[in-house]
Amino acid sequence: MNLDDIQKLKKESFAAVQGANDIQSLEEVRVVFLGRTGGKLTAVLRSLKDVPIEDRKKIGPAANALRNELEELLASKLQQLQSKISARKLDLSMPGKRVVTGHLHPLTLVEKEIREIFTSMNFSVVEGPEVESERYNFDALNIPKDHPARDMWDTFWLRQNELKTKSKKRKGGKKSMPHVADRLLLRTHTSPVQIRYMETHKPPFQIIVPGRVFRYEATDASHETNFHQVEGLMVGEHVTLANFKFVIQEFFRKLFNRNLDIRLRPSYFPFVEPGLEVDIQCVKCGGRGCNVCKDSGWLEVMGAGMVHPRVFASVHYNPRDLQGFAFGLGLERIAMIKYNIPDIRLFYSGDVRFIKQF
Ligand code: FA5
Repeated sequence: MNLDDIQKLKKESFAAVQGANDIQSLEEVRVVFLGRTGGKLTAVLRSLKDVPIEDRKKIGPAANALRNELEELLASKLQQLQSKISARKLDLSMPGKRVVTGHLHPLTLVEKEIREIFTSMNFSVVEGPEVESERYNFDALNIPKDHPARDMWDTFWLRQNELKTKSKKRKGGKKSMPHVADRLLLRTHTSPVQIRYMETHKPPFQIIVPGRVFRYEATDASHETNFHQVEGLMVGEHVTLANFKFVIQEFFRKLFNRNLDIRLRPSYFPFVEPGLEVDIQCVKCGGRGCNVCKDSGWLEVMGAGMVHPRVFASVHYNPRDLQGFAFGLGLERIAMIKYNIPDIRLFYSGDVRFIKQF
């Protein structure tokens, strides 16, 4: 073993590294020269102990330097081969992956459109709480306790134990009378927000109130226990039913992009007088009669009327000075008409095949 042998080994190993075309053959080269058992350079390094000391002083450093150089060369060649592989993986001619975009729920779409139409007519958008008190949901809307009109709204009550006894003793040692607390419920309509708004604002104003409502009733193709309404309220000195008719006609014209006849029928809601039911000409058959309108040519879309004087009185407005109209429409029913959806339960089915269509 002499320095020439080391030089030969260097040439041989470097050439082998250069000649390796893939990672596996490079690994084989590493094993041939640096493998623990049988590696050519490893064998030289191991045999150094048997070389006379004078020769060892020259050969030792040269062999160790070759090991370092060879290891470095192997590492850089490995890196080179690896980057070739990842460059090969990036095929710019491959078709791109389709980005899947989400869809807005049809109820969100319709509500957005309704908000836009009314704000374009100078209405403000107001919201109110879903957990409501009996006073706002019923009493202040001229629906007193034990009045049969309450049966119109099947209610989810939140607190059964409404009797609260004041435990404080009055002067003279007598306990105060129990009082009936304002019971809580899930609002059955958006009308309580009429009261909340009027309590804190002075007329004239015009608002809409979109929101979720709840009713304890059986579900079918057109009834849900959890649905949405949009309330409308316009109050001023000279607000009349003619104003209501104009606003609502304009609303439906914009929502359905065409002129639709509307029909007002007498109805009853305790918080309006007179009370009305609003029908629009069937959007599918144009009034000739079809399965959607059940051959009547009309679709029932909302309850409405002129604000009852007792409602004004309950918010301390003087009913002699003011007039107003109010209405409440079902958002799901409007969306069903607009998108021709046959069953209200589809809205809450969570079925993406349904949502993807909008
Ligand atoms: C009311 O809730 C009144 N607050 C509306 C009103 C407001 C009248 C202001 C006068 C003045 P009604 O119970 O009819 O009325 O409900 C209004 C609308 O909600 C209905 O026209 C219907 O479109 C929708 N609706 C009622 N019950 C359900 C239900 N279970 N599922 C889905 N939509 C419903």
